[in-house]
Order: sequence, then C-alpha cells, then structure tokens
Amino acid sequence: MPAVQTKTDLAFQQCVMPACGATYDVSEERTSCETCGSLLDIVYDWDRLPVPSSLKDFEAKWSRRNEPLERSGVWRFRELLPFAPDDQIVTIGEGQTPLHPSVGVADFIGMKPGRLLLQYEGMNPSGSFKDNGMTAAFTHARMIGAKRAACASTGNTSASLALYCGMSQLMQAVIFIGSGKISYGKLSQALDYGALTVQIAGDFDDAMHRVRQVSKRLGIYLVNSVNPFRLEGQKTIMLRVLESLNWEIPDWIVVPGGNLGNSSSFGKAFHELKKLGLIDRVPRLAIINAAGANTLNALYNERGVRWNGGAPDTKSIDSYYAELDAGALRADTIASAIEINRPVNLMKCLRALECCDGVVRDVTDQQILDAKARVAANGLGCEPASAASVAGAKLLREQGVIDPDERVVCILTGHQLKDPTATVAYHSSDQNEFNRVLGSRGVTTAAFANRAVQVENDLDAIVRTIQLNS
Ligand code: F0G
Repeated sequence: MPAVQTKTDLAFQQCVMPACGATYDVSEERTSCETCGSLLDIVYDWDRLPVPSSLKDFEAKWSRRNEPLERSGVWRFRELLPFAPDDQIVTIGEGQTPLHPSVGVADFIGMKPGRLLLQYEGMNPSGSFKDNGMTAAFTHARMIGAKRAACASTGNTSASLALYCGMSQLMQAVIFIGSGKISYGKLSQALDYGALTVQIAGDFDDAMHRVRQVSKRLGIYLVNSVNPFRLEGQKTIMLRVLESLNWEIPDWIVVPGGNLGNSSSFGKAFHELKKLGLIDRVPRLAIINAAGANTLNALYNERGVRWNGGAPDTKSIDSYYAELDAGALRADTIASAIEINRPVNLMKCLRALECCDGVVRDVTDQQILDAKARVAANGLGCEPASAASVAGAKLLREQGVIDPDERVVCILTGHQLKDPTATVAYHSSDQNEFNRVLGSRGVTTAAFANRAVQVENDLDAIVRTIQLNS
C-alpha cells in the first residue's frame, strides 16, 4: 500500500498517472507506483516553500561560488528541487556547462547567425549530462542510507555513477552493460573508477530488465532514470540554458531521445516554472531518435500515441512492443548511447511533448555522423548520440518546422572523447576501417571527413605536403 501522505511533507513522490495519483514519502526508494506500476514524480508543496520571486534572483549566487552548493550548476537552483537537506547533498561541481552560439553549425542547419546555440553538457565531470541527475539520485541514496547503487547503462550513466562512488567513497557502484554495446571511452571510465562491472550477454534493454530484478532482490539502490530524483537534477540543464539567455525563453529545445529521461525532465522543468509564474511561456521541444532505435518516433508519428491528458493509448504501445518481440527486432545505431528500443520514461516524455507542443523525428546514422563532424569542426566535440540533436534540428529546418530566425538550443549530451572509434572511422582514409565500423550502419560517405595526410619520413616531403595542404 502507498504510504499515507501527510500534510507536513513539502516534497513527496507521486504516480504520474492522474487516474491513480498515489503518493509516497521521499524517504522511500521507489522506481514505480505500487498501485498501478507507472512512473513516479517528485512533487512539491510550492505554497509552503521559499520559491524565488524571479529567476534573476539566482544570479546573486554567483557571488558565493566558493561554497560548493552554490558552485554546483545543479544545486545553486536547489529551491526548485527542494527534496534534500543541504548537509546531505553530494556534489562534485557538476553542471558548469556553457551555452555557445555557433555560426558554423547555424549555417550547416540553415539558421541565421546567432540563432543556433549548443548547450555543451560534455563539460560535466564525467563527460556527459548524466552528472546533473546523478548528483540528485546519489544524494537521495545517501539520505536513505544506501550502501550500493546500481544502473544499467549504454555507458554514460555508469561512468557517472562510478565517478560519484569513487569521489565520495559513500557507496559501491554496480553497473550492468550489454556485451559489445558500450564505447571504449565509457567502459574505461567505469573500470578505472572501480565500479563492479557486470557485462551481460544482451543489449541495453536486456541489461535494464535485469538490473531492476537484481536491485530488487539484493536491495541495491537503482539510479537509472526510472529513479524520479535523477530527473530533478536534470531539470537544471534548462535553468542554465535560460540563465545563459538572460532568462529569455528560446523557441526550441532540441534533444536526443534514448531512455527519454532528459526530455521528460525538461518538460517537468518548464511545467513547474510556468506554474510558479517564473516564466510566461514554454519553448517547443523536439526529441530526436536514431532511426535504428526509434520507438518514440514510431509511436508518436506513425501510431499517433499522445499523453492525452494522462490517458495514453497503452494498447498501441503494447502492440508495438509485441511486434518488436515477434520480429526479434533490436535497436541498432552507431549512436550507442541511445541504442534503446524500450524507453523507460515513455509516459513522462509523452507528457512533456504535450506540455511543450513537441515534435519527434528520427535521423539516420549518416545524418548523425555528418552533423557530429560539423559540430566538432566548429569547436565543440560531441559523441554520436549528442549530434542527433543537431541532425534533427537540420531536418526540422529543411521541413520548414523550424524557421531560420527562431532561436534554437541543441543539447550536446556527451563529450567527443566518449566514442573515439566512430570518430576515427568517419575521418579514416582507410576504406576497410571505414566499412568495418560504419558500413553495416548504412553510412556510405563522409562528406565532412578531415583525413590525415600520409607522408614519408623526409623533411622536404613533409614541408611540401604542408604547403600543398594549407
Ligand atoms: N545522449 C547521451 C550521450 C546519452 O548517454 C544518453 C543516454 C542520451 C543522450 C539519451 O538520454 O535517456 O535521457 O533520452 N544514455 C543512457 C546511459 C541510457 O545509460 O548512459 P535519455
């Protein structure tokens, strides 16, 4: 039975489905509603909490950035995620991430200069946006006395968890990864930070299924984005975007979609800010799947599934998954971070799409790698999954959904060095290497490749080569 909600609670957990609405105390560790099995939100009694009167009030915190909680790009907004006492918060300086305008990427997409901005979450301590959520989930794990924390991962969640465990020495990290489904940059982080790394025969969807079973059986705290506290931390990515824009609302937020935690948390952030009267309108949300892992696109665009005020067509969703099973269809994309066919946050994401008048698209691996090369050539290296946002923005621009003078923010979710294999293969002059890594993904060209120039070990030859190529 759900815990009885007492009126004294300023923060509590609540089932996302309006027809259920069961509530649970924040002191409980839950990843689903006991009554109906749906996802949970963290909900606040805003009327009794000290909410700033204006978002501008947060700027004063910069003068106190020698204090760890004010330096954190997550916790300096803690009045908007007020579930943890200050003395329980675990921070490693996450969220120091910049918003960069990129003239070159704007040109690639077909936007006017200054209208395309890249939110570079690769600058986080573990190299991806995951640290925004991990600091929040990890804090909750500490609040309830957890000694071990687990996740299934395509690599970035596990790297982040392993880093928080290593840095704080408060918990042991147990991570589940699919075999051969994780890039070396990410695997090396988990191993180096000392996580117990369980590599199972299967893909992310299999690992996710198992980690839920195992964490339940062994009482290990689960930090995947089914954990509602994770998403509270990820809300702050949007707060930093707004802060960089002087609290102006962009027209579009474009984000890759994998397990759909980010998009869900962005929707929650804007819903709350609007409700609190801190913003007067919400941006539109564009969620971009990889074509080889496009469950959201298939459900949203082909089968017309909508949040529908909290009553989505679950039969369509179930029959889609049954078709995947019947055809033994597996996610398959070079963007390994979003190689996911059963996104655990689907319901919350549908709600976010409704809140933000959202659109969904999918992009091919070719489009992803070309976009990634343009992003990097303009100075912000990202991993393939991240470039899906830029490739998606380009597609929406070509389709006339995004206008050239709208203000568009693409989220670059992970650092370039996470997946050197894809990058080197794209730029390789060795056709065999190109085909080995990319051929099976339908990638046939590398229009933006920057190939290394081969030259014999001779001074004159080297000089001649440089003169010819510069
Ligand atoms: N981009 C990167 C770099 C990611 O690592 C992920 C997810 C996503 C995008 C998708 O974000 O799940 O919020 O839609 N990576 C997870 C992991 C699944 O295990 O590291 P989402």
